[in-house]
Amino acid sequence: KHGYFTFDPGFLATGSCESKITYIDGDNGVLLHRGYPIEQLATEADYLEVCYMLIHGEAPTSEQYEEFKKTITKHTMVHQGIHEFFGGFRRDAHPMAMLCAVTGALSSFYHDDLNIADPKQRVRSAYRLIAKIPTIAAMCYKHNIGQPFVYPRNDLSYSENFLNMMFSVPAEEYKVSPIIAKAMDRIFTLHADHEQNASTSTVRLAGSSGANPYACIAAGVASLWGPAHGGANEACLKMLAEIGSVERIPEFIDKAKDKNDPFRLMGFGHRVYKNFDPRAKVMRETCHEVLSELNIKDPLLDVAMELERIALEDPYFVEKKLYPNVDFYSGIILKAIGIPTNMFTVIFALSRTVGWISHWHEMLSEPSQKIGRPRQLYTGEAKREFSPIKK
Ligand code: SDX
Repeated sequence: KHGYFTFDPGFLATGSCESKITYIDGDNGVLLHRGYPIEQLATEADYLEVCYMLIHGEAPTSEQYEEFKKTITKHTMVHQGIHEFFGGFRRDAHPMAMLCAVTGALSSFYHDDLNIADPKQRVRSAYRLIAKIPTIAAMCYKHNIGQPFVYPRNDLSYSENFLNMMFSVPAEEYKVSPIIAKAMDRIFTLHADHEQNASTSTVRLAGSSGANPYACIAAGVASLWGPAHGGANEACLKMLAEIGSVERIPEFIDKAKDKNDPFRLMGFGHRVYKNFDPRAKVMRETCHEVLSELNIKDPLLDVAMELERIALEDPYFVEKKLYPNVDFYSGIILKAIGIPTNMFTVIFALSRTVGWISHWHEMLSEPSQKIGRPRQLYTGEAKREFSPIKK
């Protein structure tokens, strides 16, 4: 229907090479979720609509959407015992370390949806995760800054609720700006799913052994944390700050081209896209919208725009088909919203939880599903005799 699919034979060994959820055409910069173009979803749907369609396969009717929203809202609170976990973490613990630990621990609190053979329980655990990850994410941030946890509120939308749990304090009401809430919701959608990326493949492989959904999502969080993957938005902002000014860009472009220099332009390049990442285009527009509507002049945006212009013209990057990816602009928007850099990958994990759990649910719905077992090319020693040392 969409053209020729090719799969890495190694994937065939893990039995996770087919999916109906997301389609990417890297050469033409196409990204579809359940057939819907990401450009339309990011501007015309909200994140919960996208969550519904990723899990269930079709966009919700307005009744289904309202029912889904009510169910998610009902699950946003976490067991009070989870609050105790944070007392054991150092104040300066990285929020991804806390998110990974607490997500895995959820299975010790919720025992009524661990039967992965039951589709109803699988969907219930999916809903619980979509609902609770923002609450846990905000708790990580509050622990870092020594402020009390803020409970979720049922009168707020998904993104408003997250922002309120992040920024409100007992002393005063946090006024959620509609512009920021919309930008946050769009960032969630743009990171929701992306086919068989490293963290999604991790979740599928973990799930193929029958591990519970909370343990699988914790595995996804761990894999996403790497700077080559979800950690790139945090690394990109650090890189822009290190470049510091437009004048210093050529020096860093040369470093990125130098084969002996491990420096990479964070936010550029992709394993699949050899064209503009369609998410980066929407992120770029959102970035300009948010900064102009909030009247923020961020010198890092000037550096980012000039870096993008130079890189897109530079023969090295053109020849290697290196374009800005989803992480290039997201960091600037998150910084404008007031999110600290060490929370960027947490936001990515929050957004991607629905993608991970949709792939997990899809894989377990396959009656022929088997445990994953990637093959290897052995390059070690041939068989040889062992001679024990004299003890
Ligand atoms: C995400 O898989 C997904 O879908 C991931 C993701 C998702 O939504 O889940 O899209 C999210 O992880 C986006 C990527 C975020 N990572 C970064 O921005 C980190 C910086 N990017 C690079 O580390 C790199 O581009 C990768 C890891 C993303 C891809 O690396 P590859 O597979 O080596 O890319 P490639 O084969 O296209 O590289 C072609 C050449 C190589 O040089 P040669 O070996 O041909 O000489 O370009 C070089 C690479 O070394 N190169 C770069 C570069 N990225 C690739 N050179 C300088 N700067 C870069 N950013």
